[in-house]
Amino acid sequence: MPSLNDIRQTFLDFFARNGHAVVDSSPLVPRNDPTLMFTNSGMVQFKNVFTGLESRPYNRATTAQKCVRAGGKHNDLDNVGYTARHHTFFEMLGNFSFGDYFKSEAIPFAWELLTRDFAIPADRLLVTVYHTDDEAAAIWKKVAGLPDERIIRIPTDDNFWRMGPTGPCGPSTEIFFDHGAEIWGGPPGSPDENGDRFIEIWNLVFMQNEQHADGSMTELPRQSIDTGMGLERIGALLQGKHDNYDTDLMRALIEASANATSTDPDGPGKVHHRVIADHLRSTSFLIADGVMPSNDGRGYVLRRIMRRAMRHAHMLGAQDPVMHRLVPALVRQMGAAYPELTRARATIEETLRLEETRFRQTLERGLRLLDDELNRLPEGAALPGEAAFRLYDTYGFPLDLTQDALRERGQAVDVAGFDAAMAEQKAKARAAWSGSGEAADAAIWFELADRHGATEFLGYDSEASEGAILALVDGGQTVERAGEGERVQIVVNQTPFYAESGGQVGDTGLVKTETGAARVTDTRRMQGVIVHLAEVTLGEIAVGQGAQLSVDSDRRGAIRANHSATHLLNEALRGALGEHVAQKGSLNADDRLRFDFSHGKAVTAEELAAIEAEVNALIRQNAPVETRVMSPEDARELGAQALFGEKYGDEVRVVSMGHREGSEKGANRDTYSIELCGGTHVARTGDIGAFVILGDSASSAGVRRIEAVTGEAALAHLRAAEGRLSEIAGLLKAPVGDVVDRVKALADERRAMAGEIASLKRQLAMGGGGDASPQAREVGGVSFLARRVEGVSGRDLPALVDDMKRSLGSGAVLVLADAGGKAAVAAGVTPDLTGRVSAVDMVRRAAEALGGKGGGGRPDMAQGGAPSLEAADAAIAAVETMIGETA
Ligand code: ALA
Repeated sequence: MPSLNDIRQTFLDFFARNGHAVVDSSPLVPRNDPTLMFTNSGMVQFKNVFTGLESRPYNRATTAQKCVRAGGKHNDLDNVGYTARHHTFFEMLGNFSFGDYFKSEAIPFAWELLTRDFAIPADRLLVTVYHTDDEAAAIWKKVAGLPDERIIRIPTDDNFWRMGPTGPCGPSTEIFFDHGAEIWGGPPGSPDENGDRFIEIWNLVFMQNEQHADGSMTELPRQSIDTGMGLERIGALLQGKHDNYDTDLMRALIEASANATSTDPDGPGKVHHRVIADHLRSTSFLIADGVMPSNDGRGYVLRRIMRRAMRHAHMLGAQDPVMHRLVPALVRQMGAAYPELTRARATIEETLRLEETRFRQTLERGLRLLDDELNRLPEGAALPGEAAFRLYDTYGFPLDLTQDALRERGQAVDVAGFDAAMAEQKAKARAAWSGSGEAADAAIWFELADRHGATEFLGYDSEASEGAILALVDGGQTVERAGEGERVQIVVNQTPFYAESGGQVGDTGLVKTETGAARVTDTRRMQGVIVHLAEVTLGEIAVGQGAQLSVDSDRRGAIRANHSATHLLNEALRGALGEHVAQKGSLNADDRLRFDFSHGKAVTAEELAAIEAEVNALIRQNAPVETRVMSPEDARELGAQALFGEKYGDEVRVVSMGHREGSEKGANRDTYSIELCGGTHVARTGDIGAFVILGDSASSAGVRRIEAVTGEAALAHLRAAEGRLSEIAGLLKAPVGDVVDRVKALADERRAMAGEIASLKRQLAMGGGGDASPQAREVGGVSFLARRVEGVSGRDLPALVDDMKRSLGSGAVLVLADAGGKAAVAAGVTPDLTGRVSAVDMVRRAAEALGGKGGGGRPDMAQGGAPSLEAADAAIAAVETMIGETA
């Protein structure tokens, strides 16, 4: 009996043999379609190839595509567990032709695979075609030899397949398997078609049209093929089962569930096991594709599925979280075909465990409340909406969980009442908010958040996606369109653009629609709405349009590197300077990072060098950067560093990277950095490239600031420094290695030359040096030498006075210098004469004659100053007179 894994492989091999490229499943969160919540068929990833917008290196492809049908248009959630063929997660096998082959090859391919490779008896098969499609009917007749009564013409949309309200579409032919007369049901198109006897196994769509939003339908540029076969269905058929949950793969999961809860897989808990098996697949695959439980959008659908499974586990009597214990069984079954499951295993287990641990805290109380309510109700009456809302609001019961719980008792919920209670709560929140004094123009964002919900952020793992334009805002008002040259704020339902937060700057990039383009210059978040600040650069853009959103990738890459480096720097600082280091602010821009932290003194050059070296060592570890979502309490327990200024909700994002050198190898190595952070990060620390500190400075009292660069910018910084060094070497005409010694030598030389110049100036002032007493005069038996000098600074006067004293041998000297517009006065008396003449008196007398006053020093050497040298001759004469009188 072939396993589901064998059947998947047989399918892909068959089409590979027939010239098809085997293409990987695309993620469950479609990047190329804003209208889809989850990928729900194989053609989703090829949508733009069909319409001609995108081309691929192949024109035939085959895939096994992960699909989720829960939430949105196709929602099978409510039926799972109770029916044979409903799943929230399933695999769609498909083959695709992009303008290559069409009906006359697609039909024989299908027939050959089913009847030869899968060896299904031809007489158990029948087909439907669209009622006007004579061509397909004729091909079936020719290829399969089917009699007319087994080629059924269907006039309804059942045989005209559409992806959604818009997009590629076309007539289809469906292949059915007859499970035999012992099962009730009629062939397709008959009144009993909903019975279980005739089961559709494969849908072949002849893609030839495109449906447009205005209702018109055009021909596609090329006729194409899109087919879809549910692996679980074909698997059941080939394994001789009637129920998808009896296939080997589903059975293994059901048994894992039974083991984990020590219950009988086929006993009274049968439905619970089926729900758990199905939900285990959808939740694990969604988490592997980056969806995290939340209270909005895709994250909320995930949470609803998780909680629904958890309630069923609870009903099996499980006392502790169960779901995460089933992940190994799932990885065993599907990890080989979907390696992302194996890679994300730890994240899946942790996310499931945390959600279940937390939900269990309220689950029992909620269920008790539900019981009380139900006991009070008359038999069969619907549960009041207000009670369902209380369960939702207080106990975290999504509405469909409550509905699921009531279903077993044949009761319903008053959904209108639930909606009314929800609306009332929103109105209250709004009233409370409008009284909170926020700026008036924030009203528009509150309104948009109310109307459209929070914008879904896809930018953790994508830089481009499609989004639908929900609103355009100009000057606080919504507008319908914006034309070339206009500045406008754009709101879409989902975006890869990161809104400025936690120190990380907002993204820039492009928004393109069918009719125009806008350049996004910044991105902000307002009331949960991501707002793209943009200028229309081409044509016009309008509300309701689909848009291609692309983030400036190089810039984002640089921001990511800086942000991750900031986390490493934070930890390195704590290691080097002490645990008192706490983040006080940060900036993660594209050209640099800035990190402010508490620390009382300057960081020394040695400390900076050690910190820089440590961050670079962590970069070289090239360790994966891991992101998880958990409760704030769990994050704290993990030792996560909380970032400055962030508000944390019920759930926090925890980013960890690197490991401590010397710590135990393997899974238990000590993680280096663990921080609460909503920002975008590199995939591995090696992506940071390099880290260079530009400097440390004071930011405010007790707060230091380090600026640094990473990656290309770090390299550019080092290059520039090196360039300056070479330039210096060039100027010195010395090799780079000798530059320091040369500069030191130059400085020494300069100092020596300065001394020499000063002495030369003094000599010049002495009249050219050498013999210097021609002008000395005898006054009262004392040799008196007076000079007026220029270009000798006040500082050099004592040395000049000493020189003059020495040349006199015995006598008194006076120097008057022009010191930059002012007068400097110095006087000296040789030791043999200090008893008769005082240098201090000489200076004072000269200063006085020059219009100043004061001066001081010792009897043999004194200095003073005056406003100008104008009365120099009078001053010399006055001193001469004084010597004549006192000596
Ligand atoms: N896209 C087609 C389907 O989903 C094959 O049924």
